[in-house]
Amino acid sequence: MGVFRKIRSRWRPVADEQEPPAPPLDPEWPYSIRPLTVAQLEECWRLDQRCFADGEAYSRETFQYLLTAPDALCYQANAADGTMVGFIIGIIEPDFTGHITTVGVLPEHRRRGIALRLMQRIEEAFRKCGVRTVRLEVRATNHGAQKLYRNLGYTVTQRLPRYYSNGGDGLLMVKALE
Ligand SMILES: CC(C)(COP(=O)(O)OP(=O)(O)OC[C@H]1O[C@@H](n2cnc3c(N)ncnc32)[C@H](O)[C@@H]1OP(=O)(O)O)[C@@H](O)C(=O)NCCC(=O)NCCS
Repeated sequence: MGVFRKIRSRWRPVADEQEPPAPPLDPEWPYSIRPLTVAQLEECWRLDQRCFADGEAYSRETFQYLLTAPDALCYQANAADGTMVGFIIGIIEPDFTGHITTVGVLPEHRRRGIALRLMQRIEEAFRKCGVRTVRLEVRATNHGAQKLYRNLGYTVTQRLPRYYSNGGDGLLMVKALE
């Protein structure tokens, strides 16, 4: 297991470094997606506070952990002026399942395909790291996010009673990567 961890921690930076530079911004879709690092911890934490105004936002410490974990894959979406408007974080678990831990987009930038592209980007990165199955949890009442995931091929495999700290149920959604 220690060896796997060492190998995986090498794979991720190599995959990121090999990414081509961001293409010129498309006037039809004026955003770009690139790796998110711990250097953007503060901006990411603030963004998360606005995305999860229902009290489910992560603490700074959780972001510090996720953005420095060797098995984490983290991406940000930026507007043309460089402002971070969305982000996604996933972890490669010891059994090589990809676990999407969080995805968020600022309210004023929603329904423009940002989360869709962030999901596609992290799935591509998971694939490169040998992940074949991806899972995530979503609030049972979050129908918008569920639609996003269903459109991408995720299916509900389990209901998770009182999964959230305020007692709300969660749904476990899973997708096999081709
Ligand atoms: C869920 C969330 C990440 C979606 O981000 P987004 O950038 O607006 O999503 P996209 O524009 O990529 O949506 C792609 C598709 O998903 C579906 N979808 C996304 N949000 C939806 C909503 N609120 N209602 C219905 N369908 C929705 C639609 O099919 C949409 O395509 P369309 O706009 O052409 O109809 C965003 O609403 C958010 O940050 N919410 C708060 C945090 C959260 O709930 N995160 C998920 C936790 S599991």
